[in-house]
Amino acid sequence: MRTIESLGDLRGTRVLVRSDFNVPLKDGQITDDGRIRAALPTLKTLVDAGARVVVMAHLGRPKGQVDPAFSLAPVAARLGELIDAPVALAEDVVGESAKSVVAGLEDGQIALLENVRFDPRETSKVDEERQELARAYAELGDAFVSDGFGVVHRKQASVYDIAQLVPSAAGLLVFKEIDSLSRATDDPERPYGVVLGGSKVSDKLGVIANLLKKADMLFIGGGMAFTFLAAQGHSVGTSLLEEDQIEAVKGYLAEAAERGVDLVLPVDVVVAPRFAADAPATVVPVDAIPDDQMGLDIGPESQRLFAEKIAAAKTVAWNGPMGVFEFPAFAGGTAAVARALSEGDMFSVIGGGDSAAAVRTLGFDEETFSHISTGGGASLELLEGKVLPGIAVLED
Ligand code: 3PG
Repeated sequence: MRTIESLGDLRGTRVLVRSDFNVPLKDGQITDDGRIRAALPTLKTLVDAGARVVVMAHLGRPKGQVDPAFSLAPVAARLGELIDAPVALAEDVVGESAKSVVAGLEDGQIALLENVRFDPRETSKVDEERQELARAYAELGDAFVSDGFGVVHRKQASVYDIAQLVPSAAGLLVFKEIDSLSRATDDPERPYGVVLGGSKVSDKLGVIANLLKKADMLFIGGGMAFTFLAAQGHSVGTSLLEEDQIEAVKGYLAEAAERGVDLVLPVDVVVAPRFAADAPATVVPVDAIPDDQMGLDIGPESQRLFAEKIAAAKTVAWNGPMGVFEFPAFAGGTAAVARALSEGDMFSVIGGGDSAAAVRTLGFDEETFSHISTGGGASLELLEGKVLPGIAVLED
Protein backbone atom coordinates (compact mmCIF):
# COMPACT_ATOMS: atom_id res chain seq x y z
CA MET A 1 0.00 0.00 0.00
CA ARG A 2 1.16 3.54 -0.68
CA THR A 3 2.18 5.61 2.34
CA ILE A 4 1.39 9.22 3.25
CA GLU A 5 5.06 10.06 2.49
CA SER A 6 4.51 8.91 -1.09
CA LEU A 7 2.18 11.90 -1.51
CA GLY A 8 5.15 14.25 -1.24
CA ASP A 9 5.23 17.69 0.41
CA LEU A 10 1.71 18.36 1.66
CA ARG A 11 2.08 21.93 2.90
CA GLY A 12 -0.89 23.92 1.65
CA THR A 13 -2.34 20.83 -0.06
CA ARG A 14 -6.00 20.00 0.51
CA VAL A 15 -5.97 16.37 1.69
CA LEU A 16 -9.19 14.38 1.84
CA VAL A 17 -9.11 11.80 4.63
CA ARG A 18 -11.65 9.00 5.06
CA SER A 19 -12.01 8.20 8.74
CA ASP A 20 -14.39 5.81 10.49
CA PHE A 21 -16.22 7.95 13.01
CA ASN A 22 -19.17 5.59 13.31
CA VAL A 23 -19.27 5.83 17.09
CA PRO A 24 -22.04 4.75 19.47
CA LEU A 25 -24.29 7.59 20.66
CA LYS A 26 -26.74 7.75 23.52
CA ASP A 27 -28.99 10.81 23.83
CA GLY A 28 -26.70 12.66 21.43
CA GLN A 29 -23.58 11.87 23.51
CA ILE A 30 -20.70 9.70 22.29
CA THR A 31 -20.43 6.68 24.61
CA ASP A 32 -17.16 5.28 23.19
CA ASP A 33 -14.77 7.58 21.32
CA GLY A 34 -12.25 4.82 20.52
CA ARG A 35 -12.62 5.27 16.77
CA ILE A 36 -12.02 9.02 16.98
CA ARG A 37 -8.91 8.52 19.11
CA ALA A 38 -7.65 5.87 16.67
CA ALA A 39 -7.85 8.43 13.85
CA LEU A 40 -5.62 10.97 15.61
CA PRO A 41 -2.13 9.78 14.54
CA THR A 42 -2.94 10.23 10.84
CA LEU A 43 -4.74 13.53 11.36
CA LYS A 44 -1.87 14.90 13.48
CA THR A 45 0.68 13.78 10.90
CA LEU A 46 -1.21 15.70 8.22
CA VAL A 47 -1.70 18.76 10.41
CA ASP A 48 2.03 18.76 11.27
CA ALA A 49 2.83 18.52 7.58
CA GLY A 50 0.82 21.71 7.00
CA ALA A 51 -1.93 20.05 4.99
CA ARG A 52 -5.47 21.45 4.83
CA VAL A 53 -7.35 18.41 6.05
CA VAL A 54 -10.86 17.59 4.82
CA VAL A 55 -12.29 14.60 6.69
CA MET A 56 -15.04 12.44 5.22
CA ALA A 57 -16.94 10.10 7.54
CA HIS A 58 -20.30 8.45 8.11
CA LEU A 59 -22.45 7.87 11.14
CA GLY A 60 -25.02 5.09 11.14
CA ARG A 61 -27.09 4.23 8.10
CA PRO A 62 -29.26 7.25 7.24
CA LYS A 63 -30.02 5.68 3.83
CA GLY A 64 -29.20 8.67 1.64
CA GLN A 65 -31.49 11.06 3.55
CA VAL A 66 -30.45 14.08 5.56
CA ASP A 67 -31.38 13.18 9.12
CA PRO A 68 -30.20 15.39 12.01
CA ALA A 69 -30.12 12.34 14.31
CA PHE A 70 -27.13 11.13 12.26
CA SER A 71 -25.30 14.47 12.10
CA LEU A 72 -21.56 14.38 12.74
CA ALA A 73 -21.85 17.43 15.03
CA PRO A 74 -20.99 15.47 18.22
CA VAL A 75 -17.99 13.95 16.42
CA ALA A 76 -16.71 17.35 15.25
CA ALA A 77 -16.93 18.61 18.83
CA ARG A 78 -15.11 15.58 20.29
CA LEU A 79 -12.44 15.62 17.59
CA GLY A 80 -11.86 19.31 18.30
CA GLU A 81 -11.36 18.53 22.01
CA LEU A 82 -8.95 15.69 21.27
CA ILE A 83 -6.77 17.63 18.85
CA ASP A 84 -7.16 20.82 20.86
CA ALA A 85 -8.18 22.91 17.85
CA PRO A 86 -11.53 23.81 16.36
CA VAL A 87 -12.91 21.48 13.68
CA ALA A 88 -15.26 23.21 11.24
CA LEU A 89 -18.26 21.04 10.32
CA ALA A 90 -19.80 21.60 6.89
CA GLU A 91 -23.59 21.60 6.81
CA ASP A 92 -23.65 19.40 3.74
CA VAL A 93 -21.54 16.73 2.02
CA VAL A 94 -20.35 18.38 -1.19
CA GLY A 95 -22.62 21.44 -1.44
CA GLU A 96 -22.08 25.15 -0.95
CA SER A 97 -21.32 24.80 2.76
CA ALA A 98 -18.67 22.12 2.14
CA LYS A 99 -17.05 24.25 -0.57
CA SER A 100 -16.92 27.34 1.60
CA VAL A 101 -15.64 25.49 4.69
CA VAL A 102 -12.85 23.92 2.63
CA ALA A 103 -12.02 27.26 0.97
CA GLY A 104 -11.67 28.77 4.45
CA LEU A 105 -9.11 26.22 5.67
CA GLU A 106 -5.61 27.39 6.47
CA ASP A 107 -2.51 25.18 6.50
CA GLY A 108 -2.68 22.68 9.38
CA GLN A 109 -6.43 23.06 9.95
CA ILE A 110 -9.10 20.36 9.87
CA ALA A 111 -12.65 20.46 8.51
CA LEU A 112 -15.24 17.69 8.57
CA LEU A 113 -17.85 17.18 5.87
CA GLU A 114 -21.34 16.28 7.08
CA ASN A 115 -22.25 12.56 7.16
CA VAL A 116 -21.35 11.27 3.68
CA ARG A 117 -24.29 8.86 3.83
CA PHE A 118 -26.68 11.83 3.68
CA ASP A 119 -25.91 11.64 -0.06
CA PRO A 120 -27.50 8.55 -1.66
CA ARG A 121 -24.65 8.30 -4.18
CA GLU A 122 -22.14 7.44 -1.42
CA THR A 123 -23.40 3.88 -0.99
CA SER A 124 -24.99 3.42 -4.43
CA LYS A 125 -24.53 0.06 -6.13
CA VAL A 126 -24.43 1.91 -9.46
CA ASP A 127 -20.77 2.66 -10.28
CA GLU A 128 -21.57 5.86 -12.24
CA GLU A 129 -23.52 7.34 -9.33
CA ARG A 130 -20.69 6.72 -6.87
CA GLN A 131 -18.14 8.03 -9.35
CA GLU A 132 -20.14 11.22 -9.82
CA LEU A 133 -20.02 11.87 -6.07
CA ALA A 134 -16.32 10.96 -5.98
CA ARG A 135 -15.71 13.64 -8.64
CA ALA A 136 -17.42 16.15 -6.34
CA TYR A 137 -15.12 15.03 -3.47
CA ALA A 138 -12.15 15.47 -5.79
CA GLU A 139 -13.19 19.13 -6.23
CA LEU A 140 -12.59 19.51 -2.48
CA GLY A 141 -9.17 17.83 -2.24
CA ASP A 142 -5.97 17.28 -4.17
CA ALA A 143 -4.93 14.01 -2.49
CA PHE A 144 -6.66 11.22 -0.55
CA VAL A 145 -5.67 9.31 2.58
CA SER A 146 -7.74 6.25 3.42
CA ASP A 147 -7.73 5.76 7.19
CA GLY A 148 -11.22 4.51 8.00
CA PHE A 149 -10.25 0.89 8.55
CA GLY A 150 -13.79 0.03 9.68
CA VAL A 151 -15.14 0.84 6.21
CA VAL A 152 -12.44 -0.52 3.89
CA HIS A 153 -14.68 -3.53 3.15
CA ARG A 154 -17.23 -1.15 1.62
CA LYS A 155 -17.09 -0.24 -2.08
CA GLN A 156 -18.32 3.29 -1.46
CA ALA A 157 -17.55 6.68 -3.00
CA SER A 158 -15.49 8.09 -0.12
CA VAL A 159 -13.61 4.81 0.41
CA TYR A 160 -13.08 3.33 -3.03
CA ASP A 161 -13.99 5.59 -5.95
CA ILE A 162 -12.18 8.71 -4.70
CA ALA A 163 -8.92 6.72 -4.45
CA GLN A 164 -8.99 6.35 -8.23
CA LEU A 165 -9.33 10.05 -8.93
CA VAL A 166 -6.56 11.76 -6.93
CA PRO A 167 -3.14 10.59 -5.64
CA SER A 168 -3.99 8.29 -2.74
CA ALA A 169 -2.37 6.50 0.18
CA ALA A 170 -3.22 4.43 3.25
CA GLY A 171 -3.19 6.18 6.62
CA LEU A 172 -1.39 5.05 9.76
CA LEU A 173 -4.44 3.32 11.25
CA VAL A 174 -5.03 1.27 8.13
CA PHE A 175 -1.36 0.18 8.12
CA LYS A 176 -1.48 -0.74 11.81
CA GLU A 177 -4.72 -2.71 11.43
CA ILE A 178 -3.53 -4.63 8.39
CA ASP A 179 -0.17 -5.43 10.03
CA SER A 180 -1.79 -6.81 13.18
CA LEU A 181 -4.69 -8.60 11.56
CA SER A 182 -2.53 -10.23 8.93
CA ARG A 183 -0.23 -11.50 11.67
CA ALA A 184 -3.28 -13.28 13.06
CA THR A 185 -4.58 -14.52 9.74
CA ASP A 186 -1.81 -15.10 7.19
CA ASP A 187 0.78 -17.13 9.06
CA PRO A 188 -0.19 -17.24 12.73
CA GLU A 189 2.13 -18.64 15.34
CA ARG A 190 0.52 -21.90 16.54
CA PRO A 191 -1.51 -23.08 18.31
CA TYR A 192 -3.90 -20.61 16.67
CA GLY A 193 -7.25 -20.13 18.37
CA VAL A 194 -10.22 -18.13 17.19
CA VAL A 195 -13.05 -17.16 19.51
CA LEU A 196 -16.34 -16.31 17.80
CA GLY A 197 -19.44 -14.95 19.48
CA GLY A 198 -22.29 -12.59 18.76
CA SER A 199 -25.83 -13.40 17.94
CA LYS A 200 -25.95 -14.82 14.45
CA VAL A 201 -24.29 -17.85 12.86
CA SER A 202 -25.48 -16.59 9.49
CA ASP A 203 -23.25 -13.48 9.81
CA LYS A 204 -20.24 -15.69 10.38
CA LEU A 205 -20.70 -18.55 7.92
CA GLY A 206 -17.88 -17.40 5.62
CA VAL A 207 -15.50 -16.84 8.47
CA ILE A 208 -16.19 -20.23 10.06
CA ALA A 209 -15.68 -22.01 6.75
CA ASN A 210 -12.33 -20.27 6.24
CA LEU A 211 -11.15 -20.73 9.82
CA LEU A 212 -11.80 -24.46 9.80
CA LYS A 213 -8.98 -24.61 7.25
CA LYS A 214 -6.63 -22.45 9.33
CA ALA A 215 -7.29 -22.52 13.07
CA ASP A 216 -6.23 -25.21 15.56
CA MET A 217 -9.01 -24.28 17.98
CA LEU A 218 -12.34 -22.65 17.28
CA PHE A 219 -14.37 -21.47 20.29
CA ILE A 220 -18.05 -20.70 19.80
CA GLY A 221 -19.99 -18.63 22.33
CA GLY A 222 -22.69 -15.96 22.29
CA GLY A 223 -26.11 -16.39 20.76
CA MET A 224 -24.68 -18.31 17.82
CA ALA A 225 -23.62 -21.16 20.14
CA PHE A 226 -27.23 -22.28 20.49
CA THR A 227 -27.50 -23.22 16.83
CA PHE A 228 -24.37 -25.37 17.34
CA LEU A 229 -25.87 -26.93 20.47
CA ALA A 230 -29.12 -27.61 18.59
CA ALA A 231 -27.10 -29.22 15.77
CA GLN A 232 -25.67 -31.56 18.41
CA GLY A 233 -29.20 -32.54 19.37
CA HIS A 234 -29.65 -30.40 22.49
CA SER A 235 -32.87 -28.59 23.13
CA VAL A 236 -32.15 -24.89 23.61
CA GLY A 237 -35.39 -23.56 25.15
CA THR A 238 -36.18 -20.04 23.99
CA SER A 239 -32.52 -19.20 23.19
CA LEU A 240 -31.56 -17.57 19.90
CA LEU A 241 -31.73 -20.27 17.27
CA GLU A 242 -31.27 -20.14 13.50
CA GLU A 243 -33.07 -23.30 12.44
CA ASP A 244 -32.17 -22.76 8.80
CA GLN A 245 -28.46 -22.91 9.68
CA ILE A 246 -28.56 -26.21 11.55
CA GLU A 247 -27.59 -28.27 8.50
CA ALA A 248 -24.66 -25.95 7.69
CA VAL A 249 -23.51 -26.16 11.30
CA LYS A 250 -23.69 -29.97 11.23
CA GLY A 251 -21.38 -29.77 8.22
CA TYR A 252 -18.94 -27.59 10.20
CA LEU A 253 -18.96 -29.97 13.14
CA ALA A 254 -18.14 -32.85 10.79
CA GLU A 255 -15.45 -30.87 8.98
CA ALA A 256 -13.83 -29.83 12.26
CA ALA A 257 -13.68 -33.46 13.37
CA GLU A 258 -12.21 -34.52 10.03
CA ARG A 259 -9.55 -31.80 10.02
CA GLY A 260 -8.67 -32.23 13.69
CA VAL A 261 -9.78 -28.71 14.62
CA ASP A 262 -10.72 -28.50 18.30
CA LEU A 263 -14.19 -26.94 18.03
CA VAL A 264 -14.97 -25.86 21.58
CA LEU A 265 -18.61 -25.32 22.54
CA PRO A 266 -20.06 -24.29 25.90
CA VAL A 267 -20.72 -27.11 28.36
CA ASP A 268 -22.99 -25.00 30.55
CA VAL A 269 -24.95 -21.79 30.07
CA VAL A 270 -26.50 -19.02 32.14
CA VAL A 271 -30.22 -19.00 31.44
CA ALA A 272 -33.05 -16.62 32.34
CA PRO A 273 -36.79 -16.49 31.64
CA ARG A 274 -36.50 -13.23 29.70
CA PHE A 275 -34.03 -10.85 28.07
CA ALA A 276 -33.59 -8.28 30.83
CA ALA A 277 -30.85 -7.04 33.14
CA ASP A 278 -32.84 -8.03 36.23
CA ALA A 279 -34.05 -11.42 34.98
CA PRO A 280 -33.17 -14.19 37.48
CA ALA A 281 -30.08 -16.02 36.20
CA THR A 282 -29.48 -19.76 36.66
CA VAL A 283 -26.61 -21.96 35.49
CA VAL A 284 -27.55 -25.21 33.74
CA PRO A 285 -25.60 -27.82 31.76
CA VAL A 286 -26.20 -27.60 28.01
CA ASP A 287 -28.26 -30.80 28.04
CA ALA A 288 -30.70 -29.38 30.59
CA ILE A 289 -31.81 -26.01 29.21
CA PRO A 290 -35.43 -25.56 30.37
CA ASP A 291 -38.01 -25.12 27.61
CA ASP A 292 -39.12 -21.73 28.92
CA GLN A 293 -35.67 -20.22 29.48
CA MET A 294 -33.12 -18.59 27.19
CA GLY A 295 -29.35 -18.81 27.35
CA LEU A 296 -27.79 -15.35 27.79
CA ASP A 297 -24.16 -16.26 28.54
CA ILE A 298 -21.76 -19.18 28.66
CA GLY A 299 -21.61 -20.73 32.15
CA PRO A 300 -18.72 -20.83 34.67
CA GLU A 301 -17.56 -24.32 33.64
CA SER A 302 -17.41 -23.18 30.00
CA GLN A 303 -15.55 -20.05 31.07
CA ARG A 304 -12.90 -22.21 32.75
CA LEU A 305 -12.69 -24.52 29.75
CA PHE A 306 -12.37 -21.66 27.24
CA ALA A 307 -9.81 -19.81 29.41
CA GLU A 308 -7.67 -22.91 29.92
CA LYS A 309 -7.53 -23.73 26.22
CA ILE A 310 -7.01 -20.10 25.19
CA ALA A 311 -4.02 -19.91 27.55
CA ALA A 312 -2.31 -22.65 25.51
CA ALA A 313 -2.56 -20.66 22.25
CA LYS A 314 0.21 -18.53 20.75
CA THR A 315 -2.16 -16.49 18.58
CA VAL A 316 -5.80 -15.72 19.33
CA ALA A 317 -8.29 -13.70 17.31
CA TRP A 318 -11.59 -12.84 18.99
CA ASN A 319 -14.74 -11.48 17.39
CA GLY A 320 -18.08 -11.21 19.16
CA PRO A 321 -19.16 -11.27 22.82
CA MET A 322 -19.87 -14.54 24.65
CA GLY A 323 -23.10 -13.28 26.18
CA VAL A 324 -25.19 -10.19 26.87
CA PHE A 325 -22.26 -8.37 28.49
CA GLU A 326 -24.26 -5.13 28.76
CA PHE A 327 -26.18 -6.83 31.64
CA PRO A 328 -23.78 -7.57 34.55
CA ALA A 329 -25.44 -10.92 35.32
CA PHE A 330 -24.57 -12.14 31.82
CA ALA A 331 -21.13 -10.56 31.36
CA GLY A 332 -19.09 -13.39 32.95
CA GLY A 333 -18.31 -15.24 29.72
CA THR A 334 -17.15 -12.17 27.82
CA ALA A 335 -15.06 -11.06 30.82
CA ALA A 336 -13.50 -14.55 31.11
CA VAL A 337 -12.40 -14.52 27.46
CA ALA A 338 -11.11 -10.95 27.78
CA ARG A 339 -9.17 -11.94 30.92
CA ALA A 340 -7.66 -15.02 29.24
CA LEU A 341 -6.46 -12.87 26.35
CA SER A 342 -5.28 -10.04 28.56
CA GLU A 343 -3.28 -12.31 30.89
CA GLY A 344 -2.07 -14.76 28.25
CA ASP A 345 1.35 -14.89 26.67
CA MET A 346 0.13 -14.77 23.10
CA PHE A 347 -0.49 -12.43 20.20
CA SER A 348 -4.09 -11.37 20.80
CA VAL A 349 -6.30 -9.51 18.37
CA ILE A 350 -9.77 -8.30 19.19
CA GLY A 351 -11.99 -7.40 16.26
CA GLY A 352 -15.57 -6.32 16.01
CA GLY A 353 -17.13 -3.20 17.47
CA ASP A 354 -18.96 -5.20 20.16
CA SER A 355 -15.98 -7.11 21.54
CA ALA A 356 -13.82 -3.98 21.49
CA ALA A 357 -16.55 -2.04 23.31
CA ALA A 358 -16.94 -4.97 25.72
CA VAL A 359 -13.30 -4.95 26.85
CA ARG A 360 -13.49 -1.22 27.46
CA THR A 361 -16.89 -1.41 29.21
CA LEU A 362 -15.67 -4.25 31.42
CA GLY A 363 -12.69 -2.16 32.47
CA PHE A 364 -9.80 -4.06 30.89
CA ASP A 365 -6.61 -2.18 30.14
CA GLU A 366 -6.43 -1.89 26.34
CA GLU A 367 -2.63 -2.09 26.50
CA THR A 368 -2.79 -5.71 27.72
CA PHE A 369 -4.04 -6.88 24.32
CA SER A 370 -1.76 -6.95 21.29
CA HIS A 371 -4.30 -5.21 19.07
CA ILE A 372 -7.88 -4.00 19.39
CA SER A 373 -9.26 -3.46 15.93
CA THR A 374 -11.52 -0.53 15.11
CA GLY A 375 -13.16 -2.65 12.44
CA GLY A 376 -16.22 -4.84 12.87
CA GLY A 377 -17.25 -6.18 9.46
CA ALA A 378 -13.85 -5.23 8.01
CA SER A 379 -11.87 -7.33 10.48
CA LEU A 380 -14.30 -10.21 10.04
CA GLU A 381 -13.87 -10.10 6.26
CA LEU A 382 -10.09 -10.20 6.71
CA LEU A 383 -10.47 -13.26 8.97
CA GLU A 384 -12.64 -14.68 6.21
CA GLY A 385 -9.74 -14.28 3.77
CA LYS A 386 -11.53 -11.78 1.54
CA VAL A 387 -9.92 -9.05 -0.55
CA LEU A 388 -11.22 -5.72 0.75
CA PRO A 389 -11.99 -3.18 -2.03
CA GLY A 390 -10.81 -0.18 0.02
CA ILE A 391 -7.42 -1.88 0.51
CA ALA A 392 -7.04 -3.30 -2.99
CA VAL A 393 -7.51 0.19 -4.45
CA LEU A 394 -4.51 1.47 -2.44
CA GLU A 395 -2.08 -1.21 -3.65
CA ASP A 396 0.74 -0.12 -5.95
C1 3PG B 1 -18.79 -0.24 11.32
O1 3PG B 1 -19.43 0.30 12.22
O2 3PG B 1 -18.45 -1.45 11.37
C2 3PG B 1 -18.31 0.57 10.18
O3 3PG B 1 -18.37 1.94 10.46
C3 3PG B 1 -19.05 0.22 8.93
O4 3PG B 1 -20.39 0.58 9.05
P1 3PG B 1 -21.46 -0.09 8.08
O5 3PG B 1 -21.57 -1.55 8.46
O6 3PG B 1 -22.75 0.67 8.29
O7 3PG B 1 -20.96 0.05 6.66
